[in-house]
Amino acid sequence: MPSLRSALLWAVLGALAAAAPAEYTHRVKETVHPPRGWNALRPAPPAHTMELRIGLPQPKFAELEEHLYAVSDPSSERYGEHLSKEDVEALVAPRPESVQLVEEWLASHGLLSDALSRSPAGDWVTVRVPVSLAETMLDTTYHVWAHTASGDSLVRTTSYSLPEYLHDHIEVVQPTTMFSRFTPMRTTYRSFRANTAIPQSDGARIAVPSASGGQVAASCNGTITPECLLELYNATGYTPQVPGENKIAVTGYLEQYANYADYYQFLGEEVSYAANSTFSVVYINGGLNNQTPADAGIEANLDTQYAFSLTYPTPGTFYTTGGSPPFIPDDLEPTDSNEPYMQWLEYVLSAEDLPQSISTSYEDDEQTVPYSYATRVCAEFAQLGARGISIMFGSGDAGVGDGDPDPATQECYSNDGRNVTMFIPGFPASCPYVTAVGATSGVPEIAAWFSGGGFSNYFARPSYQDTAVTKYLGELAPGTYAVPLTIQQAYPDVSAEGVDFTIVWDAETGLVDGTSCSTPTFTAFVSLLNDARIASGKFPLGFLNPLIYSLNAQTTTGFNDITVGNNPGCGTEGFNATIGWDPVTGWGTPNFGVLKELVLGA
Ligand SMILES: *[C@@H]1O[C@H](CO)[C@@H](O)[C@H](O)[C@H]1NC(C)=O
Ligand SMILES: *[C@@H]1O[C@H](CO)[C@@H](O)[C@H](O)[C@H]1NC(C)=O
Ligand SMILES: *[C@@H]1O[C@H](CO)[C@@H](O)[C@H](O)[C@H]1NC(C)=O
Ligand SMILES: *[C@@H]1O[C@H](CO)[C@@H](O)[C@H](O)[C@H]1NC(C)=O
Ligand SMILES: *[C@@H]1O[C@H](CO)[C@@H](O)[C@H](O)[C@H]1NC(C)=O
Repeated sequence: MPSLRSALLWAVLGALAAAAPAEYTHRVKETVHPPRGWNALRPAPPAHTMELRIGLPQPKFAELEEHLYAVSDPSSERYGEHLSKEDVEALVAPRPESVQLVEEWLASHGLLSDALSRSPAGDWVTVRVPVSLAETMLDTTYHVWAHTASGDSLVRTTSYSLPEYLHDHIEVVQPTTMFSRFTPMRTTYRSFRANTAIPQSDGARIAVPSASGGQVAASCNGTITPECLLELYNATGYTPQVPGENKIAVTGYLEQYANYADYYQFLGEEVSYAANSTFSVVYINGGLNNQTPADAGIEANLDTQYAFSLTYPTPGTFYTTGGSPPFIPDDLEPTDSNEPYMQWLEYVLSAEDLPQSISTSYEDDEQTVPYSYATRVCAEFAQLGARGISIMFGSGDAGVGDGDPDPATQECYSNDGRNVTMFIPGFPASCPYVTAVGATSGVPEIAAWFSGGGFSNYFARPSYQDTAVTKYLGELAPGTYAVPLTIQQAYPDVSAEGVDFTIVWDAETGLVDGTSCSTPTFTAFVSLLNDARIASGKFPLGFLNPLIYSLNAQTTTGFNDITVGNNPGCGTEGFNATIGWDPVTGWGTPNFGVLKELVLGA
């Protein structure tokens, strides 16, 4: 198939008379204000090389989106009829004319076809160039920028241009204007607490009507283990039936390594039923998984220990994506963090066979990701959803605020030069094609105060959210907010426990918190639901949100509604958890047993 398609493409190209004008002028494509905290230090070294990633428009994306909803909405006749990789690629392919003009433009700068790498659909072209050439091509000047608080450095520009005739044929070029700082979502207000786990059980129980057997071990209120979660979410005793047909994965970035010795120690101490569990590693873009004990990542250990033990014996994959290529603009050797989602997306979108449920516990402030780039990355998640993959992201650990632990110095202003007061939404949680997971705390559960939630400034509200979000907004006390609410895509969609998780890290047992706990947990229950679906001959769940929002119109929803707590930030109390959907805990936490019956009926 691929060879036939490219032969056809070349035949079409040959017949087209698209040509670059002999003379052209550059026009500005994008200008941004550098986010607070970044300072331009000096012009970038001309010989420093970058992977320039050029996104060509996807003229049929609206059609892809229609397919995505048709196969993800349980009331649709096509529910579950996911698209193949090839179908999806055909729907995101650029116009042949765009391909031709972009390749001619690159060739005019000496970048011939064999220097380019292309995504399978041809919608991204990547080429390694020195800064000096990028500056000519984009009529710009790159600088070395430093982030004061973290010491991170980047080579970026605040504005770039493209030849006038290419404006309709190129949607985005990076790295140019993207200053984001992609971080793991473990709370920073308190980190790993060694040796604080409460020893299991004097046998005391707490009554939780929705739990397996109506009770949960009292030790779970203060020390969460996988067995606590199986009880709390009514899944005790469920054994996966089709391991291998069903798979689960977690992603790792920023040199977060998942340590096997810690994993096995965790199983031995906490998860006797999964004593034989293990996981495999997929290395992307130079990603590593060093096993030196001191190199173990708290985030990577947490994600693997929960996602894979809860779903044992379902095979687990840890994706480790490199995103810090060697970067030596001067003697200080700062790191040049790339856009790791794109490296990972490029890999998975090229793969034929993917795990059906994937958890990611990293994010950026939405406003530090340029709009052009955020919309494009979000659209890539839609491709995965259309292929039947459920994609979960943590909703962030800063409530409605910016993550500064001191409320007095939180900076809740827009970066767009207008300096408007606003809450700080997170991305990709704000993307309408992913499932965003917030956090709860304690047994019985209440909202975790750090649970990220709110409203996107980039993405319009998808229709599946209309009823739920309109109801929530209608019940808000008028004038409650000093901060204007934008009526846009709202998040999170769901939640799960996110406080006092027992993990093993560097051979020590201790506790951690964050939506980083909630996300692999929720993903594990999605994977168990997929197991039940596949075992009874049904398609996997794929993009979950249309299903989740529709279940909640029913009397029995499959979610434990969380109605206590709020997510303060920006000098406000944030939003309240309420009856039904809310921008703190979404629809609430899963009741696996009930959801299993609902999805087997769907
Ligand atoms: C759970 O722990 C919290 C905090 O330690 C405590 O206030 C609460 O009473 C406990 N709940 C139960 C039911 O034991
Ligand atoms: C682990 O594997 C061994 C050897 O195959 C088997 O005897 C044992 O029952 C397994 N343990 C569990 C908890 O599945
Ligand atoms: C933005 O506004 C806030 C409060 O109004 C002010 O403290 C801050 O200095 C302003 N920042 C810029 C860059 O103008
Ligand atoms: C949240 O609940 C508190 C206590 O009931 C109430 O005072 C406050 O106005 C509510 N906030 C919002 C934004 O509805
Ligand atoms: C737990 O799940 C089972 C199905 O596995 C269901 O019959 C039961 O009602 C659920 N329990 C509660 C309390 O929701």
